[in-house]
Amino acid sequence: MDLQAAAAHLKAGHLVALPTETVYGLAADADQPAAVARIFQAKGRPADHPLIVHIAGGTPEALRAQVDHYAESVPAFARTLMARFWPGPLTLILPRRPGVADAAAGGAHNPTIGLRCPAHPVAHALLQACLEQGVHGLAAPSANRFGRVSPTSAAHVQDELGHVPDLLILDGGHCPVGIESTIVDASRRQPVLLRPGMISQQALEEALGMPVALPDAAAPRVSGSLESHYAPRAQVRLMPAAQIQTALDLLGSDARHIAVYSRQVVQPRSPHVRVRRMPDDAEACARQLFAVLRELDQPDVRLIWVETPPQDGLWAGVADRLARAAA
Ligand code: TXA
Ligand code: MG
Repeated sequence: MDLQAAAAHLKAGHLVALPTETVYGLAADADQPAAVARIFQAKGRPADHPLIVHIAGGTPEALRAQVDHYAESVPAFARTLMARFWPGPLTLILPRRPGVADAAAGGAHNPTIGLRCPAHPVAHALLQACLEQGVHGLAAPSANRFGRVSPTSAAHVQDELGHVPDLLILDGGHCPVGIESTIVDASRRQPVLLRPGMISQQALEEALGMPVALPDAAAPRVSGSLESHYAPRAQVRLMPAAQIQTALDLLGSDARHIAVYSRQVVQPRSPHVRVRRMPDDAEACARQLFAVLRELDQPDVRLIWVETPPQDGLWAGVADRLARAAA
């Protein structure tokens, strides 16, 4: 993998799909408006939806300089979260330096910028190579078409965006976390959890020693929080395992066009029902979730029945993605 060439490709205003620990991102130089516009175009995403800017990190001084390139100010609680969770699957929304990365922020009117320092070794090495070529940060949403399931392998990116002419796809294997970063709004006085992820509300509160609120009407809009998002083509329904079993029993050997993803063992009488076992552990489930949704989303499948996940803080990220896939 030639990361110098990939960095030069970005410097020249082109797009690169890069592996991160959460999902693959579709990256452009965050400080080049024309390059950022190509991200929105490739994804079919409305241009007023802000993008996360990824930075390399490194020594505390290097990290501070990178953050200060984009952020006008950083509250103390945000510094605490950076020290505890970066590099890693956490995005912080910060007050933005006026005039910097307007396009990545979704327009000059947006006073904030989302920053994340990813832990994936390929993402880190690419960001480092970019920095050496004068590219401060990479705007990168998930590398899927708007509203669809995020990619967790290079093959998924190829399926979603293979048609984009100048796209360079870096293959970093399967993403180890599997769902998108936890997003915390650090642009107001109190931290607000905008999008749940594998860094839980409880882990944030423990690190901060203060409460982290859930969003109210005043919170900024997050496109990943549109009610319907992360959606396969087939219809996703969430229900308890017993209900899935009852429905399969009623349909008997006639059941067709159905796939099941459940922790408890369910037994279809029909050989046409595709069944995948959901892991008992939230981390293992997150890691495979989007790949399983893609795999079950075959042309002959019209319904994907998923067992309702446990109501436990550790499962909040998975439960959120499943609820949106089902909306
Ligand atoms: O794990 C992740 O976060 C992945 C990887 C590639 O880093 N990225 C990702 O990006 O999920 P995206 O664009 O699919 O989702 C980012 C979410 C969007 O819902 C966007 O609205 C929100 O973050 N966001 C970004 N900047 C924001 C800002 N300044 N204010 C409010 N929301 C923001
Ligand atoms: Mg996305």
